[in-house]
Amino acid sequence: MRIIELFAGIGACSKALKNIGIDLEIVDAVEIDKYAMASFNAIHGTNFQCQDIRTYNKTFDNIDLITHR
Ligand SMILES: C[S@@+](CC[C@H](N)C(=O)[O-])C[C@H]1O[C@@H](n2cnc3c(N)ncnc32)[C@H](O)[C@@H]1O
Repeated sequence: MRIIELFAGIGACSKALKNIGIDLEIVDAVEIDKYAMASFNAIHGTNFQCQDIRTYNKTFDNIDLITHR
């Protein structure tokens, strides 16, 4: 499942899905707070940079799930 997390925080939505055995590809995570982003990356083994949803303007193909808050 290809997922984008908006207002990603530490990525609890992705963590919960992984915990029930769903094979996830985290395509992007939008989080403005550097400490939350660092925690997200540590938990999920990713390397996303902070992003502000107010200026977010990316497009991706074949996204299965977008989480929000
Ligand atoms: C309720 S928390 C989300 C919790 C998240 N679902 C988790 O698993 O940790 C909302 C998050 O939105 C982030 N946020 C607030 N304003 C933002 C903005 N303009 N752009 C991106 N993220 C933002 C906050 O830093 C905060 O981590």
